[in-house]
Amino acid sequence: MTKPFVYVCRQLPDAAHKMLEEHFECEVWGKDEAVPRALLLEKAAKADGILSLLTDKVNEELLAVAKNLKIVANYAVGFDNIDVPACTRHKVMATNTPGVLTDTTADLAWTLLMCAGRRIVESERFTKSGQWKTWGPLLLAGQDIHHATLGLVGLGRIGAAVARRAKGFDMKVVYFDPYRNEQAEQELGVEYMPLDDVLKVADFISVHVPLMDSTRNLIAARELGIMKKTAVLVNTSRGGIVNEPDLYHALKDGAIFAAGLDVFAQEPTPLDNPLLTLDNCTCVPHIASASVQTRTRMGTLAAENVIAALTGKKPPTLLNPEVLG
Ligand code: GLV
Ligand code: GLV
Repeated sequence: MTKPFVYVCRQLPDAAHKMLEEHFECEVWGKDEAVPRALLLEKAAKADGILSLLTDKVNEELLAVAKNLKIVANYAVGFDNIDVPACTRHKVMATNTPGVLTDTTADLAWTLLMCAGRRIVESERFTKSGQWKTWGPLLLAGQDIHHATLGLVGLGRIGAAVARRAKGFDMKVVYFDPYRNEQAEQELGVEYMPLDDVLKVADFISVHVPLMDSTRNLIAARELGIMKKTAVLVNTSRGGIVNEPDLYHALKDGAIFAAGLDVFAQEPTPLDNPLLTLDNCTCVPHIASASVQTRTRMGTLAAENVIAALTGKKPPTLLNPEVLG
């Protein structure tokens, strides 16, 4: 009997490939860039399973040619690259990697919060470029983190993990989420507020909602305008949620103090993105879950999902269980 064919859209940590190769005939896209679309469609036409990255669009066009496809296992918690309702229509299971990257992502959000608030990248550049002439009372002065108010936009797993970190800094934590979660409020000691109120009272704002039609441009000129002039905005979710031209003007004009961004509307962000010119915008290349341990665990979870789906079991983190019903 021929083994099922699994197409893997990038070289992953070894453990994931080992698991897949035990069960399937696997082919891996070996280059350090997204699989060219035409090739992905060609492979999809033969594949029983695809292990996709957030750089691979799984949409009607792909599903229409993927006659044998049973599972698309995304190597990410976010799945805005996958049209899940279309997968369901085509009876294709879709999975993501929730849970295993929660703390690593929260760590990076916290890193950006501290870097932007305390002007760390700017200070480092200052030190190494010979600008340091003397100690100065307001030299590179930032914003206090301890005892400040943290505003979370989204209180899912990652938002909650950020809230837990804030406790160690004696912060007050307020949040907005389209779904109010009173149990989490109790457990974490956080207070629910409408979005505008969170934006008005918070000293630090960290975004943890998925990208959907309802969250695209959730933070734009009006929202930036009601934040404190001293506010620091952190985004580790998806670029489309914060309007980049509006953020640029807010940072440039001093409407807010600083921002820390892990995600961009277009990735890689073009070098002429004006945000890259600002000292008060700390920019990193979508690395929130990038620890060796977590990227390995994401790989093994994605592999577990593929193996379950192609051996007649329920994948552990299935997004569309209707397919099995
Ligand atoms: C990365 O952005 C992810 O969604 O896991
Ligand atoms: C994602 O894991 C989230 O729920 O924040």
